[in-house]
Amino acid sequence: MSKFIIDNAGSLTGFVEVSGSKNAVLPLMAATLLTDDDCLITEVPNLMDVEVMCGLLRSFGSNVRCDMEDHSIELKAGDIITNEAPAELVKKMRASIVAMGPLLARTGQARIPLPGGCAIGDRPIDLHVKGLHALGADITIYRIEDGHECVEATTDGLHGAEIYLDTPSVGATENIMMAAALADGVTVIENAAQEPEIVDLANYINKMGARIKGAGMDIIKIEGVKSLHGAAHSVIPDRIEAGTFMLAAAITGGDVTITNMLPDHVKPVAAKLRECGCIVENTLEGTRVRLNGRSPIATDIKTLPYPGFPTDIQPQFMTFLATVRGSSTILETVFENRFMHIEQLNKMGAKIREDGRRAYIPGGMTLKGNEVTATDLRAGAALVLAGLVAEGETTISDVYHIDRGYDSIIEKFRAVGGKIERRE
Ligand code: UD1
Repeated sequence: MSKFIIDNAGSLTGFVEVSGSKNAVLPLMAATLLTDDDCLITEVPNLMDVEVMCGLLRSFGSNVRCDMEDHSIELKAGDIITNEAPAELVKKMRASIVAMGPLLARTGQARIPLPGGCAIGDRPIDLHVKGLHALGADITIYRIEDGHECVEATTDGLHGAEIYLDTPSVGATENIMMAAALADGVTVIENAAQEPEIVDLANYINKMGARIKGAGMDIIKIEGVKSLHGAAHSVIPDRIEAGTFMLAAAITGGDVTITNMLPDHVKPVAAKLRECGCIVENTLEGTRVRLNGRSPIATDIKTLPYPGFPTDIQPQFMTFLATVRGSSTILETVFENRFMHIEQLNKMGAKIREDGRRAYIPGGMTLKGNEVTATDLRAGAALVLAGLVAEGETTISDVYHIDRGYDSIIEKFRAVGGKIERRE
């Protein structure tokens, strides 16, 4: 098992390049099940989750050729040999559920064990089920040998439907959009998720011949087509990785320019950093974040679906707020159990108090190095930031969570002066 050892190296300075988006590439890869043609995806981040998705697609019969030097993947789902996902892969990655929509649309059947991934709440799939059922799938959930549940969807033909999502779920919007692309007739998703990853997926499926309008807004209209063809696509930059490096610049009082990022995708993070006194400038080279000698101050945060403040940046921002002048609160409205990093940050002296979905951060703390655990992906990133400013050495265990979502994190932090190494 790998650990990260981190020492305080002062302010981070220089340039860091963001990789392709984890949350965009996974559904893009799943979408290649919608056609038997050749597909190409470029700007692919080198991540554990991408490897798991490659394994999943191969298990269905896809021919997958990864060239991670070149950050590209060629995929061809010529013949689907099974529509049952292997439980051992699905357990490793919750996003496996996005294979359900395309598999169902292509073959009329999909069996997916209920997914794993970050343990940040119950993470139900009722909206995926509701959407696919409305499109004409029969859904059953049954127990499999190891006590896990498996969801089975079958259809003798999907048809368009009007679907209202109680919550704008990213995964459910993606699954419904992919299934509806090959359904007979028009589908309308209301209260759809508006995340940039949804737009990227719609753009890709449209390149494959689909007719999707409105992605990025709360009503998406999908006119089903008979078949889709292969297409090439370049993944959008990872806005969560970008936000993590923006916070790394802020917390270390550094001066970092983040390249290959789309400033529009991180507006809420930039706005909150500015409220705290950071200078965030979009330059021709990238987004430059610095303090310029200022002492950062507290702010309050409420996580929301896009375009609100992203829950995936909440843990990293909390680490920053632990160190600034004044007390802050964070209200987590997206996931009910996304405060596992508090216990770890408190081991480093943050003194954060949790009350239900609200966290009270007294601020002004000098963090101390300690042995801490990455309880999930973004909690792990939060601990990396804590380690960069803590007095003494920080050891983070269970960093496989971090590797699920950050390409070359050690190299990237080192490039801007971070003292971080991986030890097996
Ligand atoms: C995606 C992202 C994840 C991010 C999250 C919210 C991927 C691979 N992961 O996860 O990094 O934190 O969006 O921005 O893209 N919900 C239901 N029923 C459902 C589905 C979801 O009640 O059927 C609820 C969830 O419990 C949660 C909320 O909806 O409270 C948002 O979840 P969702 O948007 O579906 O997140 P994911 O797609 O799993």
